[in-house]
Amino acid sequence: MRDTIFLIGFMGAGKSTIAECLKQQYGRRVVEMDQRIEEQEQIPISRIFEEKGEEYFRELETELLRELQKDRNLVVSCGGGTPLRPCNVELMRESGRVFFLTASPETVYERVKDSHNRPLLEKNKNLPFIRSLMEERQERYEAAADYLVSTDSRKAEEICREIVGKMAEIE
Ligand code: S3P
Repeated sequence: MRDTIFLIGFMGAGKSTIAECLKQQYGRRVVEMDQRIEEQEQIPISRIFEEKGEEYFRELETELLRELQKDRNLVVSCGGGTPLRPCNVELMRESGRVFFLTASPETVYERVKDSHNRPLLEKNKNLPFIRSLMEERQERYEAAADYLVSTDSRKAEEICREIVGKMAEIE
C-alpha cells in the first residue's frame, strides 16, 4: 500500500507546519527528515554540510528513505533537496504519495528570513537567490509530485484537508 504522505517542496514551503498539523488533526505519525538525520549524526545539519559535505548529507537522506519503507501510514516531511535525486523519488513513490507544497519566492523569503539552520541560504538570504534556486529545482519537484498544493495565503488546516481528501480519493 502506498499510504505514506511525503511532503516535498522548497525550504520554507511549509512542510514541517503541515506535517505537524496532520499529526495534531489526524493523528498521523510524523518523520521530520532533517531532525531524524540530526539526531542520528548528533550534530546540526549546518555542521554536517560544513564538516562532511553536501554529498554525505544527500546519502543520509537516501538511507533514511530506505529505512522508512519498512513503516506504513507516515507523514514524511522531506528536506528541500530530497526529491532532487531520482532514486529518492523512486523510494517515495514505492511507499506513498508525493505532495509538492508550493509557495512564492516572496512567501519563502518571509518564512526563512529570521532562521539560521539552512546552510544553502545562510549567505544567500535574498529574493533573487531564492527565486533562481527555486526555478532551477521547479521541474524536478513537479516531476516527483503526485499532487501540487499551494500554500500561499492559506491556513494549514485547509491544506491538510486537501491532502487528506486526496489520499481518501485514491484509497
Ligand atoms: C535543503 C533543505 C533543508 C535541509 C538542508 C538542504 C535543500 O530542509 O534538508 O538544509 O537542499 O533545500 P528544509 O527544506 O526542511 O529547510
